[in-house]
Amino acid sequence: MTFVSLKELMPEAKKNHYAVGQFNMNTFQWAEATLRAAEKEKSSVIIASTDRIVDYLGGFKLIAATTKKMVEEMEITVPVVLHLDHGLSVERCKEAVDAGYSSVMYDGSKLSLEENIANTKEVANYANKQNVSVEAEIGSVGGTEDGITSGIKYADPKACYRLVEETGVDLLAAALGSVHGVYQGEPKLAFDLMQEISDNLNEVPLALHGGSGIPSHQIVKAIEYGHAKINVNTECNQAWTQVVREYLQQYPDSHKVPEIMTTGMDAIEKVVIEKMQLFGSSNKA
Ligand code: 13P
Repeated sequence: MTFVSLKELMPEAKKNHYAVGQFNMNTFQWAEATLRAAEKEKSSVIIASTDRIVDYLGGFKLIAATTKKMVEEMEITVPVVLHLDHGLSVERCKEAVDAGYSSVMYDGSKLSLEENIANTKEVANYANKQNVSVEAEIGSVGGTEDGITSGIKYADPKACYRLVEETGVDLLAAALGSVHGVYQGEPKLAFDLMQEISDNLNEVPLALHGGSGIPSHQIVKAIEYGHAKINVNTECNQAWTQVVREYLQQYPDSHKVPEIMTTGMDAIEKVVIEKMQLFGSSNKA
């Protein structure tokens, strides 16, 4: 089985008002637990590595080869996307494509619109030749991710339309009030702006970053207003650290690593299953 791209999953998800979850890996066990959940839920799934931890995980080639082998050996039958989250440069995105990723995100959100368009277009031209999907980002998702903290900057609708039209990307991460990491108080997603942007993008869906900690009713509304991909990382990490911490507090002398790691993986699997059910992707694969 080969990885599928978001070109194959997004149109149906947007049309039928559900979202496919992106779950970031922090070690390969994150990917294994996520795949287990996807198979149980009969849900398509996006396994992602954020660019900043690619080298820690062993590099693009090792990630692609290991994840592919995992999918084969686990006899996964649901569609799996291997996605680069927040690609830091055009070159890094090309490297991921060459290594066998089926989807890449180029994050040009800190650049001027002109530069963001030019670089995203270069990535899209390269990726399209190999049927790899591309996600672009505009505005600024707030919060902290991989040690980098930034404030929220809402996406400008006109800039969104130009970025999508001039680059031909498959989906757009438009910053609309979501935050990477933990929210301080109730998230304030800009639903009016979301609806306006989504309506004007027609069939191109939105990707929601910072999917952890958003109340269920806001997630459901975000999907209704055009999001077909939702990213989750922090909630899986919180679930893993909570159960591992509890285990080590209960058994401070334990060095049964497989038992400790299994506890963590089971906690991730549970979160992923809950998210798939909430996003409406269960039983759609
Ligand atoms: P959270 O860590 O807030 O779930 O965000 C994940 C994300 O958006 C990855 O790009």
